[in-house]
Amino acid sequence: QWIVDDGTDLSTTYPQLSQPAQLLRENEVVAFPTETVYGLGANAFSDEAVRKIYEAKGRPSDNPLIVHIASISKLDEIVQDIPEYAYKLMNEFWPGPLTLILPKKGNKLSTIVTAGLDTVGVRMPNHPVALKLIQEADVPIAAPSANKSGKPSPTHASHVYHDLNGKISGIVDGGATGVGVESTVLDCTTTVPTILRPGGVTKEQLESVIGEVTIDQALLEEGHAPKSPGMKYTHYAPNAPVFVVHGGVSFLQEIIDQYQKEGKKVGVLTTEEHLPLLHAHKVITCGTLTNLQTVAAQLYDVLRKFDEEDIDLILSESFPYDGVGEAIMNRLLKAAGNKVIK
Ligand code: TXA
Ligand code: MG
Repeated sequence: QWIVDDGTDLSTTYPQLSQPAQLLRENEVVAFPTETVYGLGANAFSDEAVRKIYEAKGRPSDNPLIVHIASISKLDEIVQDIPEYAYKLMNEFWPGPLTLILPKKGNKLSTIVTAGLDTVGVRMPNHPVALKLIQEADVPIAAPSANKSGKPSPTHASHVYHDLNGKISGIVDGGATGVGVESTVLDCTTTVPTILRPGGVTKEQLESVIGEVTIDQALLEEGHAPKSPGMKYTHYAPNAPVFVVHGGVSFLQEIIDQYQKEGKKVGVLTTEEHLPLLHAHKVITCGTLTNLQTVAAQLYDVLRKFDEEDIDLILSESFPYDGVGEAIMNRLLKAAGNKVIK
């Protein structure tokens, strides 16, 4: 194992990327920072390399991986029949937190990457280290989030180390990621594109560029099979059970008191605004309501912090569904296994 310096001065860490790039070319797996979460990368053309990702993460083999590229010119090798609106989206949002599902082309990509599907998710990450690493590796890089399957995605190199130490060839440490929740996954194989996973680019942002965008029905109501295989698994879960509480702060305090009366140690996930109003065994803040981006950026780190606390359950306040709030609530409810108190 080696870790490249937690380089705030990225220009000085660039030379060190030749080693991880070399490992990627040799079909080893390496974790690296993106603007959303850390990814666990491998050569997307190699079955041998991609298999190592699934092994290290303990990931179900029917869940396909996103392919990361550093230049639009690489698209041609892996996808075909790209609709006009997809080009508009690339123009506007790449590099950035948007994954486009497109028809797969040819047979260069490992079939393990796409879990046998005839489509592939592609994105260009907006992170200088990721872009440089992919460029140097000179192959498309398949990369899921670099967490143990089922755990919150990693937003710090230390999260990757905690989950995957000893199972991967290395971690490129680029400090904390920015966005904090994963990319928006958009199915571009339909006339009207469909959001399969809400993420860093919001529905409103997409619609401002291409007009109507729909959301996979499975995300809105129960009883539908999600179109994105990954969305059917429990995910992002800390060790203690999570409940999302709908209602005001005083209602949240009532629920806390009820559990504490039963002798339970309650952990609470809240915001700066509500911190002074809540009393429980352990209260952790996750950003401010005046800027939901701060909540997205800290969410996974906070969920992981609860694992270090001696608590029996976690009660989380709920967040507005505006903008990135859609992705925050999607991940929180998944962490809670949809357990809601209202
Ligand atoms: O921000 C991100 O997207 C991060 C960073 C590392 O890029 N990656 C990430 O990958 O979140 P992962 O594997 O944790 O999530 C990929 C999601 C899964 O829900 C998967 O099922 C879906 O994308 N997906 C991938 N290929 C697909 C396809 N061809 N059709 C439908 N869904 C697909
Ligand atoms: Mg993931």
